[in-house]
Amino acid sequence: MHVSDLPIGVFDSGIGGLTVVRQMRRALPNEDLVYLGDTARVPYGTKSPATVVRFACEDTQFLADQQVKAVVVACNTASAWALSTLERRFDLPLFGVILPGVRAALAASRNRRIGVIATPATIRSQAYTRAFLARDDSLELVVRDCPLLVPLVEEGWTSGPVTEAVLREYLAPLLQRRIDTLVLGCTHYPLLRATIAAVAGPEVTLVDSAERCAEYVAEGLRQLGRLCVGRTRPGRVLPFVTDDTRWFDEQAAQFLGETPDPASRVALPIIEMR
Ligand code: DGL
Repeated sequence: MHVSDLPIGVFDSGIGGLTVVRQMRRALPNEDLVYLGDTARVPYGTKSPATVVRFACEDTQFLADQQVKAVVVACNTASAWALSTLERRFDLPLFGVILPGVRAALAASRNRRIGVIATPATIRSQAYTRAFLARDDSLELVVRDCPLLVPLVEEGWTSGPVTEAVLREYLAPLLQRRIDTLVLGCTHYPLLRATIAAVAGPEVTLVDSAERCAEYVAEGLRQLGRLCVGRTRPGRVLPFVTDDTRWFDEQAAQFLGETPDPASRVALPIIEMR
């Protein structure tokens, strides 16, 4: 089998990475995808950097063991803290979600005032700040951690008065600074897109890092000669999780936009970090 026929591995701390898979299914409809959701250890967004890095290494090792041709780190928190370690440790093409979102925001902003919302761990890493300022140090960047948003999405509260009130509170300092572009820096946030757009108003362009990541992966694989160009059948999604499968199977369609095959529960390889 040629390397281009192998599946693409995608991992996230849990179910949210399916928003990236959803966009990948649009951009790369014939590719087979192996998805790992580390549902036993979600959330990553409140954990320490060392823990996130170790978990990300174990997730990537699991996918490497499935003979994937590339790995997509479909989690902003893991991309923020672990991507450079993964690049050192694994001999596989790796794609994170941060860079494509940064590029799209830079292209979209006219007034050079850009906002980023993400988990506490992603904001603490300063990964977005560094990536933006390395490309344009005259930008005004307003970042905000939004710890309540992941639980709200996991509860299915993607709209309604409570979610709107929370978003108004979180977005107020960004809107006061008159941002014209807002990066949704967490895999769960695309499900809040309509509510975020309503709170932020029509002057603010929303950048969905999941959508941008799919285009980035397609382009990266094309450059590497790893797209499965000869395949005509639709690609498949093979889901794995690290906890009970039932909750994941029930929720997956909401994130993915289609019903995937039932997930299989797996134990991840243990990696000792030195
Ligand atoms: N997947 C995480 C992210 O994109 C959100 C959920 C979590 O905290 O693990 O940052």
